Amino acid sequence: MTAHGANPLRDAADRRLPRIAGPSGLVIFGVTGDLSRKKLMPAVYDLANRGLLPPGFSLVGFARREWEHEDFAQVVHDAVKEHARTPFREEVWQQLVQGMRFVQGTFDDDEAFERLRGTIDELDKAQGTGGNFAFYLSVPPKSFPVVIQQLKKHGLADQSRGSWRRAVIEKPFGHDLASAEELNAIVHEVFAPDQVFRIDHYLGKETVQNILALRFANQMFEPIWNRSFVDHVQITMAEDIGIGGRAGYYDGIGAARDVIQNHLLQLMALTAMEEPASFGADALAAEKTKVLGAVRLPKDLGTDTVRGQYAAGWQGGEKAVGYLQEEGIDPQSKTDTYAAIKLGIDNRRWAGVPFYLRTGKRLGRRVTEIAVVFQRAPHSPFDSTATEELGSNAIVIRVQPDEGVTVRFGSKVPGTSMEIRDVSMDFAYGESFTESSPEAYERLILDVLLGDANLFPRTEEVELSWKILDPIERYWDTHGKPAQYASGTWGPAEADQMLERDGRSWRRP
Ligand code: BG6
Repeated sequence: MTAHGANPLRDAADRRLPRIAGPSGLVIFGVTGDLSRKKLMPAVYDLANRGLLPPGFSLVGFARREWEHEDFAQVVHDAVKEHARTPFREEVWQQLVQGMRFVQGTFDDDEAFERLRGTIDELDKAQGTGGNFAFYLSVPPKSFPVVIQQLKKHGLADQSRGSWRRAVIEKPFGHDLASAEELNAIVHEVFAPDQVFRIDHYLGKETVQNILALRFANQMFEPIWNRSFVDHVQITMAEDIGIGGRAGYYDGIGAARDVIQNHLLQLMALTAMEEPASFGADALAAEKTKVLGAVRLPKDLGTDTVRGQYAAGWQGGEKAVGYLQEEGIDPQSKTDTYAAIKLGIDNRRWAGVPFYLRTGKRLGRRVTEIAVVFQRAPHSPFDSTATEELGSNAIVIRVQPDEGVTVRFGSKVPGTSMEIRDVSMDFAYGESFTESSPEAYERLILDVLLGDANLFPRTEEVELSWKILDPIERYWDTHGKPAQYASGTWGPAEADQMLERDGRSWRRP
């Protein structure tokens, strides 16, 4: 026993015990959609395969299709075979399929919601789910209100019998501050704050959680993580894909609303926030909220924000069509497929340090990274020719695909003269760990079932993020068109000029 009365060995062992969900089930609305087939169904299977779901775990699909339970199970089966991360095991599947049910109906159909209630009661008896159900709304935003109201009307949100009921809400959570506030009001009329889990799947990524580990479990980074040493921060989320079959969702929404409002501002908050009192949901939310509340927009939205739209080009050796030629896109569309913005944070740690955020579709390659770029050394004893090729020191958190951390610094080039060039020191997940990373959705679904809210943005965070984006979107709406960039390149020239004016340049990851 230590002075504090705890047994450190036992505590360490306990922490390594897998977190297993108790008796429960998941109802998916929008079960025929892409997200459900590519991410949710495989994630449920992978959790079951890893032994993290209870034996009677139940999965209920709700949709308009005329399916029997067996048809639904077949769809899940095919999705799992195609997209699951872990190998298919017949015995795991056989157990999972026992708890699969399908409820046919539309969202405004009272009888269908009564059937859903009956199905849940039946599962409680047959599968021992104990009345504990999460409702996953993988549906277009316009359907949120009706589904939420139906859950209330049919007593499905009611926790009074000692069981839990939770609502899981997929983005986009509104399209501006006003619509987000409206949605929040509707959701909170039915569900208490601790029953609501808003998905930002970036927070479920291992490397994103590692931002906090890197910063707060170590001693060597935090002392220099501030305006005295940092020149600027670049957060990049680049994709090589176009909009695929998502024209209906994407057109009119655009890159900034699609990913800056949520993923990139969350990455920024985690990078910039103060150390939380604990790794608990309240403490984390409090610190992230402070950062989002302190974000300052650039004075000139015309020069310090850039939006672009991909034109035809070559990508991966193939010809790619431009955005306006994609199927289902309005040929006059002004939707941004690229967005770059410069933000400040008005606090003592970050005053004067720009945070450059950029994202785009059909860029050079798929990469997400956070680069903390440091100031130049204040003095150099070397001849200026020695350091001609030396860049700035940087710590780069590689979120994906090559997960890890790179530290860039100068080193002497071997030889008789003194010449200093940039070198990199790399940590790669694949090399340092044998454990494989769970998919973001695996982690997040398990957290919902466990009631662990650490990795879910709260109402205030969502609203503050819209507050940051709204003026930018309004400016764009009234100022011309997005700049064009060829598919397969790194975005419009205007984005390069935006950094050049500050004497900086984008990294080419
Ligand atoms: C989603 C966006 O949130 O994230 C998509 O709606 C984007 O447009 C996707 O493609 C990227 O996710 P990931 O995990 O592949 O980086």
